[in-house]
Amino acid sequence: QPTGTGVEAGLEGIRDGIAEGRFPARVFNDQEIFDIEQHRVFSKAWCFLAHESEIPNRGDYVTRYIANNNLIVARAESGEIHASLNMCRHRGNMMCKSEMGNASHFRCSYHGWVYKNSGELVGVPYMKEGYGGRIDKRDWGLVKVRTDTYAGLLFGTLDPDAPPLDEYLGGFQFYLDLYLKQGSSGSEVHGPPDHWVTETDWKIAAENFSGDGYHTPVAHQFGFNLGYFASSGSTHGQGWAASIPGKGHGIGLGHTPGFPPFAGFPEELAEEMRHSLSPQQVEVFSQTRTAVGTVFPNLSFLMQPFSVIPGQTGVRFVTMRLYHPIGPGKTEMYSWCLVPKDASEEYKREAYRAYTLAFAQAGTFEQDDLENWARVTRSAGSTMARNIEFPYVMGMESPRDPDFPGPGHVVTPYVNDSNFRNLWSRWSDYMTGRV
Ligand code: FES
Ligand code: FE
Repeated sequence: QPTGTGVEAGLEGIRDGIAEGRFPARVFNDQEIFDIEQHRVFSKAWCFLAHESEIPNRGDYVTRYIANNNLIVARAESGEIHASLNMCRHRGNMMCKSEMGNASHFRCSYHGWVYKNSGELVGVPYMKEGYGGRIDKRDWGLVKVRTDTYAGLLFGTLDPDAPPLDEYLGGFQFYLDLYLKQGSSGSEVHGPPDHWVTETDWKIAAENFSGDGYHTPVAHQFGFNLGYFASSGSTHGQGWAASIPGKGHGIGLGHTPGFPPFAGFPEELAEEMRHSLSPQQVEVFSQTRTAVGTVFPNLSFLMQPFSVIPGQTGVRFVTMRLYHPIGPGKTEMYSWCLVPKDASEEYKREAYRAYTLAFAQAGTFEQDDLENWARVTRSAGSTMARNIEFPYVMGMESPRDPDFPGPGHVVTPYVNDSNFRNLWSRWSDYMTGRV
């Protein structure tokens, strides 16, 4: 693994720095960091692959990545989901060229080997004449990737020794339910993801979405000026930053005093949630105006009420996003709109409209963020930035909020670096080989 300019030797120092509230600029755009991350972070962590509602029928598939490995994620004839490396075992051709579709089998376009969508090899041309019994099809299926699910989210890991997903999430499920259990039937994707390439590092996006309430009144100022937010610059920092120590996951929960409980949800759904969620979750969620969180390493969510008519509460929209790193300072973004399964078609349409306006590829808030993130990325890659650190000391001494009923380290106000220290401390655990 690369050691060219001393990044490897500096990783322990970076880890120590986080505990003191320092983190170096160069990690946000660096070839060596990128190369090490591919092996130590993305080849070991549980990485998001798909929402189960993307492939509801037998034969449905999507292709996704873990690190630079392209995977076919397919619902087999049995109804089970399989994730297999999209690489023919004969000479390595890519089996499936589209990003989504429906197929019971994949036939290689090079020499014609045929696999079931579950990965089993079932057809080999010239089997008898050519191989004369030297190939046992059972030995040459597509390489399988271990998967596990939580509330519709399908994750995969390349590490056979990774702990079960439940343990990996480590209590963050409490907060994920805010996005995934909107009503007793849960949530589903509304159409395929928006998908585009950006000149930003995945870590900048992952940090921002783990609860950066600090940038909102500035970077998204027009949203306040036009009345798109149910808060103001002065109340925006109120709420909580919650993180799961030692796991890296974190969420910012914005709270506006006087904002009606569950505002923006259809009344029937709010009523369902009062029963389907735990009393602690109801207490937290009913008070939450905005929730923006990251599952380590690169899966994020944001929910907020939003109206296309400024000044009105509107509907709650949810964006789920994946930051797939394709190079140092370069990310392939995926963004889905999640809607409550039980909501009316009209509510789903409205939520999708709000999502599209705010956080889809061309969303106005998305543009605000990316313009800043691309510049951060460019600066971080400069020669002088090699020796520059950033302060991560905000809220360093904040004690845990003793009254908050949710799990993890929870501090108030929501404008705080606590979640980011936790995120980068987990990242450095992986980078230094502790995980
Ligand atoms: Fe697929 Fe040869 S590479 S059949
Ligand atoms: Fe933002």
